[in-house]
Amino acid sequence: MEIFLLLILAYLLGSIPSGVWIGKIFFKKDIRQFGSGNTGTTNTFRVLGKKAGTTVLAMDILKGTLATSLPYFFGISNINPLVFGVVAVLGHTFPIFASFKGGKAVATSAGMILAYNPTFFVYSALIFVILLYITSMVSLTSMISAVLITLSTLVLPFTIPFILPKIDWLLTSIAIALTIFIFMRHRENIKRIKNGTENRVSFGLKAEK
Ligand code: G3P
Repeated sequence: MEIFLLLILAYLLGSIPSGVWIGKIFFKKDIRQFGSGNTGTTNTFRVLGKKAGTTVLAMDILKGTLATSLPYFFGISNINPLVFGVVAVLGHTFPIFASFKGGKAVATSAGMILAYNPTFFVYSALIFVILLYITSMVSLTSMISAVLITLSTLVLPFTIPFILPKIDWLLTSIAIALTIFIFMRHRENIKRIKNGTENRVSFGLKAEK
């Protein structure tokens, strides 16, 4: 029963539509009506600027981190914390507080990794930043990062065991599932990338139209 209630709590945490609420409360703007229409960090940067974007990034990461930490907080050890993280990611993408239309699963998944293995989070964040520098497209960066991070769960134990000491099959399976999910959530971005109209970011992370 306790686990069931905590899973609901993880979903509710993930459901907090940071971008929508910050836009409505502080800017009187619904970010779903602007830019890509997405509720996540990238569109918040695009529509509301750096401060709001950074806040939404922090909040969306934190949702995943807090949800994944729930079993630690409540002394539950018979269920893997990643399960709570995945539920929060589902909350983030299908939020009860925003008509079930949410983000693209990236920041909250990162928050899940942060709680599960902070070193692996730093490694993953590094991959993301390097790819963003190379591609200047957050969407493409998100998708390639998801693939590379998933592959890393299999390669790191044999190359840099300091980051991941052994293959963690649940982590790898969740990474595969989330990668497929992230690609599905980026369907519109993929079309724009193909026809050369995807938004790019400059190094101040200010969107170019
Ligand atoms: O995490 C979302 C990002 O990859 C793309 O966002 O607003 O450009 O569709 P957006």
